[in-house]
Amino acid sequence: MKRILSGIQPTGSLNIGTYLGSIKNFVKLQDQLPDYEFFIFIADLHAITVPKDKQKLRKLIRELAALYIACGLDPERVNLFIQSEVPAHAQMGYLLECHSYIGELERMTQYKDKSRKQETGVTVGLFTYPTLMAADILLYDPDFVPVGQDQKQHLELTRDIAQRINNRFNDIFTVPEPLISERGAKIYSFTDPTSKMSKSDDNVKSRIELLDPENIIKKRIKSAVTDSLGTIKYDPEKRPGISNLMMIYSVITGQSFEDIETAYADKGYKEFKDDLGEIVYQELKPIQDRYHELINSKELDAIFDKGRERAIEVSNRKLYKLMDRIGLGRKRK
Ligand code: TYM
Repeated sequence: MKRILSGIQPTGSLNIGTYLGSIKNFVKLQDQLPDYEFFIFIADLHAITVPKDKQKLRKLIRELAALYIACGLDPERVNLFIQSEVPAHAQMGYLLECHSYIGELERMTQYKDKSRKQETGVTVGLFTYPTLMAADILLYDPDFVPVGQDQKQHLELTRDIAQRINNRFNDIFTVPEPLISERGAKIYSFTDPTSKMSKSDDNVKSRIELLDPENIIKKRIKSAVTDSLGTIKYDPEKRPGISNLMMIYSVITGQSFEDIETAYADKGYKEFKDDLGEIVYQELKPIQDRYHELINSKELDAIFDKGRERAIEVSNRKLYKLMDRIGLGRKRK
């Protein structure tokens, strides 16, 4: 059976960047591809590469799961699990570290950016993050991995590692393809429309979180940085602010940029932002309602238990296969 897999880190409340770039796409695929098996996990091991408060981490893991389901992820169709509850991820991560090179990890732009910002206390975990991510993926032999633009380089490294191990140990892994949607794969910050909207940005005005109330959603859009031209035209190079807002408008409504430009031909930023505020609110409202029903229910634990069981079954098979080929431990039958 063909498979699709993806993951999200519980590092902060989900924002519309992650929603439009990743979750919305995943939900669409789940509905369009009935013959595939789906895995989605909460990448909590990835979240501890920088220090985390225990209570906050636990809360974020649960919140993320409830939000995934509230966004339309069908737990009957998708194996939803928590990465740290499936030991093969860390084990496979180590095996892949032994088949990766320091030089290739040093080239990862996300590592370079994050370690530059941190200056002191950069952990080894932050450095080996991409090999753990490769393990997350390769354990399940997915054909496709839907992600946003910022994960493309990690996917390329995953493919390189898979090919290297396949050459050395005789076809172990499926070499996965990234699935990056044409629209929404990179939603930018509202305060700096040249950098990615991020869960970990200190400035909350840079984003809309999925659980933000109506007045905050509308306020964030009103205060989003644009330019002084005042016209609604899509031009990401010269006019990143308005183009980013138009992208959000387009991904949610399904309208093309041309349609949006025509509809606002003789209107200004105020009308456009008022409408977009309402559009985003209407998109998030049903998600928030469902989230509040789910967050304290027992349903979530049952979903995690079922997801973990299937993930352990599939991942152990792959882990033991590679261990056997390498010659680790005693031979398994
Ligand atoms: P994370 O948690 O940073 O982001 C989760 C997903 O959301 C996408 N994304 C965005 N898309 C568009 N615009 C944005 N502003 C934006 N911000 C985030 C990301 O590209 C990603 O698809 N390393 C991963 C988690 C991970 C993973 C994996 C993913 C760990 N193991 C295996 C896939 C497969 C991460 O930090 O994503």
